[in-house]
Formats: sequence, structure tokens, C-alpha cells
Amino acid sequence: MNATSESGRVVPMRLQKFLARAGVASRRGSEDLMTAGRVTVNGAVVTELGAKVDPAVDEVRVDGMSVTLADEPVYLALNKPPGVVTTMDDPHGRPTVAGLVPTSEHPGLFPVGRLDQDTTGLLLFTTDGELGHRLLHPRHKVPKTYQVTVDGRLTEPELDRLREGIQLDDGPTAPAKAVLVSAGPTSKATITIREGRKRQVRRMFSAIGHPVLSLHRVSFGPVEIDALEEGSVRPLTAEEVRDLRNATGLD
Ligand code: URA
Repeated sequence: MNATSESGRVVPMRLQKFLARAGVASRRGSEDLMTAGRVTVNGAVVTELGAKVDPAVDEVRVDGMSVTLADEPVYLALNKPPGVVTTMDDPHGRPTVAGLVPTSEHPGLFPVGRLDQDTTGLLLFTTDGELGHRLLHPRHKVPKTYQVTVDGRLTEPELDRLREGIQLDDGPTAPAKAVLVSAGPTSKATITIREGRKRQVRRMFSAIGHPVLSLHRVSFGPVEIDALEEGSVRPLTAEEVRDLRNATGLD
């Protein structure tokens, strides 16, 4: 990470970058906080966008609340089993993804987006607020690939409708990549979308008359699930983190 020296110590960085890495807001949002006069460094209001801070010595506050950088950010991949809810705390007491990742070792760990309760596969977790938010922002159009099993005999002309973009009740979808894997009484396909609307893949296949029977995410941007076992977690490699950062315009 470019704000970390070889010794591992965090070195001076621009104030808006510090705020974004601390998860206060995006870099742009942090700049707005600064120009609005809501950010102080060592007690003095700082509105100048070029200002730098040394996280080891400077005391940064937003609206009077102290802001600190967490330890080195953590990045994990989970192969989510079916029946588990993507939330860190479920008021109905259902099994959640929080029970599958090391939350007590990494306070502030959160899932990057969500998978439906019955969807399986790759779910990323991080403590890095800035990257997490960027990965979900529609502007960055990060591709996500799913293996889908649907009811009924799926045809290429039907998949063409998804490739072109299809009307859903919350608007048209962007063009998707779709590959027919097998067709029969039930059919299999892979689909890659660059959006992340609620139950989007399920709604897209329902719109062409093929309700989804099972849905499994195999990749999120440059990260692939490969041989990760169901219910297991692994740390992302430095290369995967770098590629995720590049995919969202960081570094
Ligand atoms: N699309 C869906 O419909 N469900 C998911 O869980 C993910 C993508």
C-alpha cells in the first residue's frame, strides 16, 4: 500500500486520503468535509486540499470526533454456504456470515455487498472502507460472474435479451456477458454483470421466463473463488488487493 513505508509505518499522506482510508467518506466526500470546515488537525480547521497529515503524530477530528486509521487493512474471501444471511447481526437470529469470518480478530470487518440467503460463492470482506465502498460504486462497474441453474430449456435468443440489456421494474439492465453451458429440463449458464442491484440475476432470468434454481458467484473483479471450500475463508493475495485497487481507480 503506497501509504506504508517499507518498515510498515504509515507515512504522511494527504488529509483526504487519510479520511477515506479511515472509512469516514470517499476521497471526494472527504474533500467536501474539509472545504466545509468540518475537519481539524491538532485543533486547527484545515480546508486546504493539499494538506498532509502524519497519522502517527497528528490528531484528526471530524465534527469534533477523533478519527484514526485502523491497523493494516484486512482483505478476505469467503465461499458463502446457502442459508446464511449477509449481515453482521441478524435481529431474527438466523445464521449470518459474521459466524464464518474472524470478526473478533478484525473489528470493523464488513462484507463487500451482499449475496442473497440462498446464493452461494464468493463474498469479499474487508476493513478497508475506501476500497469496499469503491468496489460497490456503480461508476467502477466491477464485473461479477455467476454460475446459474435455471428451470426450463434456456436458448441463445433468450440469453441475447440479457446480453443486450433487459427491462426490470427498476429500469433496464446494462449489457451482460452470458454463456449457455447446457440446456434441458433445467439449464446452466454463466453470466457476468457489472451492476449490483437487489436480486438482479434472479430477476433477469425470471424476466426471460426461467426462474433461478441455484446461483453461485465464482468471481468478483480479479478475485476468483477457485478451490475455496464452502464455508471457508482465505486472505486475498497482495496481487489480488492490488488488482482490486486498480479496478476502482486507486493507486
Ligand atoms: N444476483 C442475485 O439475484 N442474487 C445474488 O445473491 C447476487 C446477484
